[in-house]
Amino acid sequence: MQNLHVSTSHPYDVVIEKGLLDRAGDWIVRLRPNARIAVITDSNVAPLYLERVILSLTHAGVGRERVAHFIFPAGEQSKSMETLSRVYAFLAASKISRSDLVIALGGGVTGDLTGYAAATWLRGTDFVQIPTTLLAQIDSSVGGKTGIDLPQGKNLVGAFHQPRLVLIDPDTLSTLTAEIFADGMAEAVKYAAAFDGALFERLEKESLRAFLEQLITRCVDIKRLVVQEDEFDKGGRMLLNFGHTLGHSVERLSEYQISHGSAVAIGMVLITRAAEKKGLCKPGTASRIEALLISLGLPVSCEYTPGQLASAAVGDKKTSGATLTLALLRELGEGFLHPIEAQSLLEFIQ
Ligand code: GLY
Repeated sequence: MQNLHVSTSHPYDVVIEKGLLDRAGDWIVRLRPNARIAVITDSNVAPLYLERVILSLTHAGVGRERVAHFIFPAGEQSKSMETLSRVYAFLAASKISRSDLVIALGGGVTGDLTGYAAATWLRGTDFVQIPTTLLAQIDSSVGGKTGIDLPQGKNLVGAFHQPRLVLIDPDTLSTLTAEIFADGMAEAVKYAAAFDGALFERLEKESLRAFLEQLITRCVDIKRLVVQEDEFDKGGRMLLNFGHTLGHSVERLSEYQISHGSAVAIGMVLITRAAEKKGLCKPGTASRIEALLISLGLPVSCEYTPGQLASAAVGDKKTSGATLTLALLRELGEGFLHPIEAQSLLEFIQ
């Protein structure tokens, strides 16, 4: 078992252990012995893990009458105002008070939506993350970014609201499709490329199966250190956006048909090639990222022109003087922030 402590404004533990799902109840009861528990999950995860989590709660002594659950349709389209209203109605019907607990059981959409519901329910209710995808385990469940999408764009409404506990069971990854697993691996490559050159080399050389749990632990540890330094995303945390500026453009231009991880994979290669051309990054870095991503089954190019990518990225920052902070690499394992005028993004990536 690994237990990493995150020292943010509200500190919490991230516990990583195979089979942890069946012991989730013990951790939750220790955290809040008499609370009512509202478990929120989606239609993919519910048939796999909901009953196990509820059973672990009852085994830990939580009466069935104190546990309620809500299942929403799986998919990014559920990270919406509409689903959020339904979650609020569920929390009201379940009589969840500020001394109770909300649990997010699932991937990034579930964590973001549930976290935001918890952040705003009764002006702030505590929540626990039980992430079941690689992307959620190594990235989105830690750090307290919560939110929903609007028709105008992704994550436009949200709050920083740290979970009270994160329970990671690597066994849940065995039920992921190859595509969803690869999606999470794009974020793992991001951590390695921007923060840990030795991890990058390990990903290049070794079979993932041999060190998946260590990989999760290392990525969470990097995230923990970054978030402790910059909880509210005003400085160093922006390094976690390596590959995301152009990645978000790819997602938007594809109308979200290209997944987040695939888009970030493309974004990491494009921005690193551009940085190499500008003399800001050690030559050969983009090719190594590209080769690793291909070996993991991820895409490394797209049909969109630099003009389309730049316009989609700059969005509302078209006015002269607006800045855009790019996360770039000096070399593998060494990310840095590079502010540019938003208007010069096209010139930077051309
Ligand atoms: N996923 C990037 C962050 O939490 O800042």
